[in-house]
Amino acid sequence: MSLSEEMYLRYHGLIVPKETHSYESLEFAQGFKFEDDDVLAVTYPKSGTIWMQEILPLVLNGGDLTPIHTIPNWERVPWLEEKQLARVVAKLASPRALVSHLPYNFMPPSFCTSKAKVIYVMRNPKDIMVSSYYFHQMAGFLEDPGTFEEFMDKFLEGKVMFGKWTDHVKSWRNSELGDRIMYITYEEMVQDLPASLRHISDFLGCNLTEEVIQKIAEHCSFKSMQNNNMSNFSLIPKVYMDSDKSPFLRKGIAGDWKNHFSSEQLARFTSVISKELEGPISCLTHDI
Ligand code: A3P
Repeated sequence: MSLSEEMYLRYHGLIVPKETHSYESLEFAQGFKFEDDDVLAVTYPKSGTIWMQEILPLVLNGGDLTPIHTIPNWERVPWLEEKQLARVVAKLASPRALVSHLPYNFMPPSFCTSKAKVIYVMRNPKDIMVSSYYFHQMAGFLEDPGTFEEFMDKFLEGKVMFGKWTDHVKSWRNSELGDRIMYITYEEMVQDLPASLRHISDFLGCNLTEEVIQKIAEHCSFKSMQNNNMSNFSLIPKVYMDSDKSPFLRKGIAGDWKNHFSSEQLARFTSVISKELEGPISCLTHDI
């Protein structure tokens, strides 16, 4: 199965959409100078990235709602690797918050030497695949996913943006960042957002009161984010993201895969993923 050359760029083997990334933006990321107080949320796509773009500014500034109500998420907490960063970097308030889908082996040298903290958000890959399937239907800058079965083939082969989920997770699991990295799951956040926020706040050394935690939880709920035009991508023209086909904030639950996978698909998916999680990182050839 081949990938659309028109829509995707390969950067040292890493597949990224051309609409949002360029060779220059990826080089800009490589040269990016991390500050010690920067905070980076890392996700494989569809694991809760925009959720972190809502959470981080609120946690870092004690629950002030101004940024989430006045700055679009992609400028408020930009992606390290996307074209937007060069344009907005000078405007970022300190401490800066960024997000990234880059595997660990693509992180710039300054990241490794800085003390910047990382929150790695993991999600059940079956739910990621379902979310991604719908995202590919609504995003005009991504390849049509085909049938669910066809999309599963692409996902398992890593012929999707940012490659194989297993490679991504393994790269960050083996990152040896010690206490600079915190792991959290989308499922934990769905189950108990205030507890997840306490965990994040403690990790970042932000002394938040219970009242502020509850306020942040309310403003980061699925419903609040669906209604926040600065976070629901309604500012993006339909040709790029068509919410009539599928909203970006689609369901916001854990376990939607049960409504999509047949028992054969479940068996195949589980077998491939569990085998790869044990094996070496296979498809990334980054050699910078
Ligand atoms: P679904 O498609 O399963 O609904 P990303 O931001 O990494 O692209 O991830 C998008 C997924 O995160 C979507 O999943 C979206 O609905 C979900 N999401 C975003 N904000 C959320 C929130 N506040 N609560 C629960 N899920 C959220």
